[in-house]
Amino acid sequence: MLHLDNSGDLHRWSRAALGRGQTIAFVPTMGYLHEGHRSLMRIARERADQVVVSIFVNPLQFAAGEDLDTYPRDPEADLHICESEGVDLVFMPGDLYPSDFSTTVVVEGLTNGLCGATREGHFDGVATVVLKLFNLVRPTMAVFGQKDFQQLQVVRRMVRDLDLDIQIVGGPIVRDSDGVALSSRNAYLSSEERAQAAILNKSLIAADAQVRAGERDPEVLVEAVRQAVQAAPLARVDYVELVDAGSLEPVTGRLDRPALLALAVRFGQTRLIDNRVLGEEQLQA
Ligand code: PAJ
Repeated sequence: MLHLDNSGDLHRWSRAALGRGQTIAFVPTMGYLHEGHRSLMRIARERADQVVVSIFVNPLQFAAGEDLDTYPRDPEADLHICESEGVDLVFMPGDLYPSDFSTTVVVEGLTNGLCGATREGHFDGVATVVLKLFNLVRPTMAVFGQKDFQQLQVVRRMVRDLDLDIQIVGGPIVRDSDGVALSSRNAYLSSEERAQAAILNKSLIAADAQVRAGERDPEVLVEAVRQAVQAAPLARVDYVELVDAGSLEPVTGRLDRPALLALAVRFGQTRLIDNRVLGEEQLQA
């Protein structure tokens, strides 16, 4: 496995691989890798000749007061994980931005709601670093997790709008045995918070059951999830929303096609997100 920290070296490597007619699958990450990241590496490994993983805690996507400085890091363990998943190249740059870096990629509309509403500038930072990494790696395809559903849609929109010749693949959410979605930020949770975090997925499953039983009122579905989550003493709801899975606009009127139930909840300083598509089997897309 190759380990590069320099953009020029990566450029030369990808030019050579593409020159040999090879395909490249890319998994961008911020490190502190877990089974969720591993699942994306496996999808990449199955689909391409070369698999590239980037590990970079991107300062542009953290607002002031967020957890940039405390974001968990363990480069040694990350390299072992990549090696064990058959990754060909790990790109771990020290920095990606010159001091006079001046360009921002803004994906409008999709970024107004959900996490975009409270995390100012977050998706600009994501889109900017992802485009930069795409230009360095020059992947044939890139794999993103559905856990960050809004991020996945933002990247898809950027790729479509800017005519990037990159296939975007979404990977399913990987969960712990109690249903909590794996996240590098779970490391921040106290044992009590971690136990209570199980309510997120439980409440999404309960909403799914309500839809299966015929409930079609978005307000009823959202309110039931909100109540269930708020019953956990340490949970503070940031948002619970039922949105169209394509536009991410709130569902108004009766639910008549599959939609995304998405939530963000704080436990102390830690903000967790989760989501589930409702009505996939009961309703026509
Ligand atoms: P990070 O949070 O490290 O996540 C990297 C990728 O792993 C993302 O595509 C994310 O959706 C996916 N992922 C995280 N937890 C997952 C889980 N439990 N199941 C499935 N996939 C999961 O997302 C980022 O980094 C950054 O914003 C990045 C795209 C790298 C840009 O800086």
